[in-house]
Amino acid sequence: MDISGNSILITGGATGIGYAFAEAFLEAGNEVIICGRKEEKLAEAKRNHPELHIKVCNVAEEADRKSLIEWIKASFSRLNILINNAGIQRDIDLTKGISGFMAGENEIRINLEAPIILTGLFAPVLAGKKGAAIINVSSGLGFVPAAKMPVYSASKAGVHAFSMATRLQLSKVGIKVFEVVPPAVDTDLNPEGRAGRGNFKVDLKPGEFVSAVMKGLEKDIFEIGYGTTEGHIKASREELDRSFMQMNSRW
Ligand SMILES: NC(=O)c1ccc[n+]([C@@H]2O[C@H](COP(=O)([O-])OP(=O)(O)OC[C@H]3O[C@@H](n4cnc5c(N)ncnc54)[C@H](OP(=O)(O)O)[C@@H]3O)[C@@H](O)[C@H]2O)c1
Repeated sequence: MDISGNSILITGGATGIGYAFAEAFLEAGNEVIICGRKEEKLAEAKRNHPELHIKVCNVAEEADRKSLIEWIKASFSRLNILINNAGIQRDIDLTKGISGFMAGENEIRINLEAPIILTGLFAPVLAGKKGAAIINVSSGLGFVPAAKMPVYSASKAGVHAFSMATRLQLSKVGIKVFEVVPPAVDTDLNPEGRAGRGNFKVDLKPGEFVSAVMKGLEKDIFEIGYGTTEGHIKASREELDRSFMQMNSRW
C-alpha cells in the first residue's frame, strides 16, 4: 500500500501501538483521526500533534459507533483506511466460574465484535476509493494462546480468521485487508496481569514495532509479525504446539 496521502481512522489511537501508528502515519504525510474512550488521553495526543483529529468513542457501544461513522461521513469524506487497533486484555480464571468474566470489560465485544461491526459499517465508505484498506491488530496470542488469558486469545484468533476471510471477500470492492500481529510490546495493556507475571519484562517499544510494520505495509505484506510473531505466522502446527507448551509452562 501507499503509506502517504491517505485519510486514516485509528481506533484506540491515543496510546500505545495505536498512538505509534498515528505518529508514523502523520510523519509519512497522511490525515489521521484517532478515537478512544478517554477524552484526556485524546487531548494529550492532540497537544503533542495538533494536526490530529480526535473523537471520543467506545467502539463496543452501538450508539458511539453510529455517531463515529456519521461524523466521519460528514467531515472526512476522503477516509480510505480504517485501523482496528482498540483492544483490552484481561487474565481470566474460569476455574473460579464465570463471574470474573461477567464482572469486567468484555474482550469479545471490544476486541472481536467491534472490528467486525466497524468493518461492516466502513466497508461501503472505503469501497472503490484509491488505496482503500483495513488494518486489523491481532496478537501472537491468537496463534499461540495463553492459558491465563483464554478469552483474549480466542478474541484475537477470531480477528485472525476474520482478517483472512474479509481479505478475500473485500478484495471484490477494492479494499485490502492487512493483519498486524504484535508480540509483547511495552504499553499499558493489562497492567495487573503483567505485574503478576514477576519475570515478565517487555523491552519492545511501540515506535520500534510500528516502524517495522510500516515497511511491511509498504510492501503489501498482508500478515505482518515481528520477532516471535514473525515465526508464529509461518509456523507449522507442530511448532505452534511446542511454543504453546513452552510459553504456558513459564506462566
Ligand atoms: N502491547 C502488547 O503486548 C500487544 C500484543 C499483542 C497485541 N496487542 C494489541 O494491540 C492493540 C493496542 O494495544 P496496546 O498494547 O497499544 O495497549 P493500550 O496502550 O492499552 O492501547 C489500547 C487502546 O485501545 C483503546 N480502547 C480500549 N477499549 C476501547 C473501546 N471500547 N473503545 C475505544 N477504544 C478503546 C484504549 O483507549 P481508551 O482506554 O481511552 O478507550 C487505548 O488507547 C490491542 O488490540 C492489543 O490487543 C498488544
